[in-house]
Amino acid sequence: MKIISVVGARPNFMKIAPFCHAIDAHNKTIAASDSGDHIEHILVHTGQHYDDAMSKSFFESLSIPEADINLGIGSGSHAEQVGSTMIAFEKVLLTEKPDWVIVVGDVNATAACSMTAKKLNIRVAHIEAGLRSHDMEMPEEINRLVADCLSDLLLTPDKLSSDNLTRSVREDQHVVFVGNIMIDTLEAQREKALALELDAIVADSILEGQPTPNSLIENEFAIVTMHRPSNVDSRETLEPIVRFLIDEAAPALQIVWTLHPRTRTRLIEFGLFNELLKHERIIMTSPLGYHELLRLNAGSRMALTDSGGLQEECCVLGTVCLVLRFNTERPITLRDNGGAGVLVGNDPERIRAAFNEAMTHPDRIPSRPEYWDGHTAGRIVEALITHY
Ligand code: UD1
Repeated sequence: MKIISVVGARPNFMKIAPFCHAIDAHNKTIAASDSGDHIEHILVHTGQHYDDAMSKSFFESLSIPEADINLGIGSGSHAEQVGSTMIAFEKVLLTEKPDWVIVVGDVNATAACSMTAKKLNIRVAHIEAGLRSHDMEMPEEINRLVADCLSDLLLTPDKLSSDNLTRSVREDQHVVFVGNIMIDTLEAQREKALALELDAIVADSILEGQPTPNSLIENEFAIVTMHRPSNVDSRETLEPIVRFLIDEAAPALQIVWTLHPRTRTRLIEFGLFNELLKHERIIMTSPLGYHELLRLNAGSRMALTDSGGLQEECCVLGTVCLVLRFNTERPITLRDNGGAGVLVGNDPERIRAAFNEAMTHPDRIPSRPEYWDGHTAGRIVEALITHY
């Protein structure tokens, strides 16, 4: 069996790592027992994320084999990224003729490559299928709908996602509940991450020009990440959040804000960057590595984030997660479903209320949805073999 799996942007890398390792383990097992099908695996990187800190560092730290093919797509509008990916990926498929194309998550590569494969009648499997925010202004929701509509095999992370699909799939599609592959990576890397020193992480990543920060104390700092266009692309939205962080959050809790390149550009453009840079209680860092962010998350009092992956990691670590969005495609991580997340959008009133509430509850409440057990990648390989 020959498969091509595709990654494009940062959140894909921690999802593909366990899958690559599970294929290796499968091949070793069948070589030892001399029975079963060898899986030939080709890894394609579309090149959407290209900075070392956004891409290469994850390949190295998570032991992902170097991509066999890099399409070199780079930055651009959505149409440019999707269009260029389809043109380049079609050439790969025509040469390699795989039995399966595996797409992960909800980035532009996920939609572009599922569509390219299906138009060549190649089977598609989608890892992390069935998530729905029901927010069509989110580019990721469009990517999920495209990938799920076209995939032959829909591999879901939780039962709510399976339920979303059973209402809409065709007879020729198969839904398999396999669990959350991100948690395979979290469990595999947890020990290594927890061995890191908080202050060493800050020293290695703090942006130039900031005052020397006080040492971070366990449970007495918050982490902040933001990169969604809906939060960072307009001054009207971004400025009130920054004002809340400066005027209200930082006096109560030291803050570590790991900056996405998009957010950094906007903060500079809106004239907000220098005030943050000079702030004694707000540490701004360049994009962090996987282990570094996991360590900070595990030591923090709370996270304020618009990231999807971080919502899941907070759920398992029990970190209170103020989700800077009005909806989430990951409701399983919300407090209403036993998780640690609270939707606060980008409304300062709601952020303030949830922040103050979290300050009065110091305890972590970890939660582990079914099959978020570190063994999802193995179940995915089994499903591919069964449905081949
Ligand atoms: C993409 C994904 C989003 C994911 C996020 C994680 C889509 C539609 N969006 O959004 O789902 O949550 O990645 O980061 O696929 N840039 C760099 N270096 C890089 C990559 C990007 O400086 O290595 C800058 C460029 O200025 C670029 C901007 O970041 O224009 C945005 O990058 P882009 O890949 O368009 O989208 P993300 O916001 O990262």
